[in-house]
Amino acid sequence: MRLEQLYAIGGGPGANRPHGSAEEDAAHALASRWMDEAGLAVEVDQSGNLLGRSPVGADVWVGSHLDTVPRGGRFDGALGVVAGLEAVERAGCGTVVVFRGEEVGCIGSRALVARGDPLPRAFLELHIEQGPVLERTGAPLGVVTSIVGYARGELFFEGRAGHAGTTPMDGRDDALVAAAEAILRIRAAVRRIEGGVATVGQLAVEPGGSNVIPERVRISVDARAPDAKRLDRLIEAIGFEPVHRTLPAAMGEGPRRVLLEEVESRGLPAIELPSGAGHDAGILAAAGVPSAMLFVRSLNGGISHNPEELSSEEDIALAVEVLGAAIGRLAPA
Ligand code: GLV
Ligand code: MN
Ligand code: MN
Repeated sequence: MRLEQLYAIGGGPGANRPHGSAEEDAAHALASRWMDEAGLAVEVDQSGNLLGRSPVGADVWVGSHLDTVPRGGRFDGALGVVAGLEAVERAGCGTVVVFRGEEVGCIGSRALVARGDPLPRAFLELHIEQGPVLERTGAPLGVVTSIVGYARGELFFEGRAGHAGTTPMDGRDDALVAAAEAILRIRAAVRRIEGGVATVGQLAVEPGGSNVIPERVRISVDARAPDAKRLDRLIEAIGFEPVHRTLPAAMGEGPRRVLLEEVESRGLPAIELPSGAGHDAGILAAAGVPSAMLFVRSLNGGISHNPEELSSEEDIALAVEVLGAAIGRLAPA
């Protein structure tokens, strides 16, 4: 129900609440109302992150983000917030946090860490897996071992604008052709680094006329690898200067064990797996906060960043139970 209310913000198709938009603000306002109704003390920090504190164990945080990719799904980020709120209400302790701008580089959690504000004693993030492992294993839940490292940046290509009809093919300097060749080169280079992936998801062509030879092209680059060494090799192989780089982060032993025990005590398989997606939990873990993540099985082959993202109500109910129990154990201590 709450997921549907969030999904409805901005209209379809898909979830469209990019960072910095009125839609992200509206989602935060809605979550703030829910926190208030739950009797939590609502606070917004200097970066716009939203916190709802209960009177007990407020230094143990649970949450996620409410911004989305363009045409995203119902669950990415939003599930972690809605489930986090419910788990805190049930446990009667802990703080729910909604970070700003996770999809564009964990803006809110990074700013929090950079400011030097007091950090939580522990952080838990519930999230959909966004991959096929749990579905293939037949397990509803999984506990994350580590979060992938990733780097994002841009590459630019310069050419010379000219007439599409009168410039001979062998006399052209076409920036988009150069970019296309580079994208294929990137794909070949990344395949030589085990566990590495890279994506070009944005392409801006200038001047952008259908009858004008492209003069300038900008492409985005998102490159990821399971360890720092391979991430460095990937960046070098692609040949770009990252605007930001997030090192792979191991999850904290303590909260990770608590999640695992809560999963096992319900007779569920104890699946541990790495995350190929970035998360605010990675930023907090890198800053020294013992952090752990609970993954909920993604259906539809694990598709995510797509409106077909899906998790079942039964799996989500189990996850909320585990999360609530974990907060109940961690927060009062
Ligand atoms: C966040 O969804 C990411 O890009 O990994
Ligand atoms: Mn997410
Ligand atoms: Mn995402």
